[in-house]
Amino acid sequence: MKYYQKLLQNNVEWAQEMVKQDPNFFAKREAAQTPHYLGIGCSDSRVPLELMTGALPGEMFVHRNIGNQVWETDLNVLSVVQFAVNVLDVEHVIVCGHSNCGALKAAEGPLSNGLIDHWLSDIRDIIRWHRTELDATKDREERLHRLSHLNVMQQVGVLSRTSIIQDAWSRGRRPMLHGWVYDIG
Ligand code: CO
Repeated sequence: MKYYQKLLQNNVEWAQEMVKQDPNFFAKREAAQTPHYLGIGCSDSRVPLELMTGALPGEMFVHRNIGNQVWETDLNVLSVVQFAVNVLDVEHVIVCGHSNCGALKAAEGPLSNGLIDHWLSDIRDIIRWHRTELDATKDREERLHRLSHLNVMQQVGVLSRTSIIQDAWSRGRRPMLHGWVYDIG
């Protein structure tokens, strides 16, 4: 069986299992979604937000990109945030980084990755802002661990200053913002 065929087969088996647990599982979800959470994570295949938090289909609206970044100029992530906050009325927005992130490792190194170097420029800025602290940490693992936290803090900060979140808060409404770092190991 080819790799992609395995995925289709898995889907059939998963759907049967869901219906066995709840005959109305899919019927209940067909018309609309009412997620409580927006998850913003890294595209890394090891950090599937819904899977690792046990969120079922319909429970978490998700946006993932390389390095779990929130740029105030990125129409993609801003559209996701706006829809999640203004239309879906999510209660929580979770920005989730992770250990051993390739984006952070690449941002520490020389400009030699082609197009993606542009996308890593914000992480390079974070490294520059915290140069003294990061340089003082000689152990690379430890430095990347700290950087993963600094990155998430920066992205939550940017998110909190977007007009979408500011408008929601000025109406006295949710969401609550969370910054998480997931340890793969
Ligand atoms: Co990553």
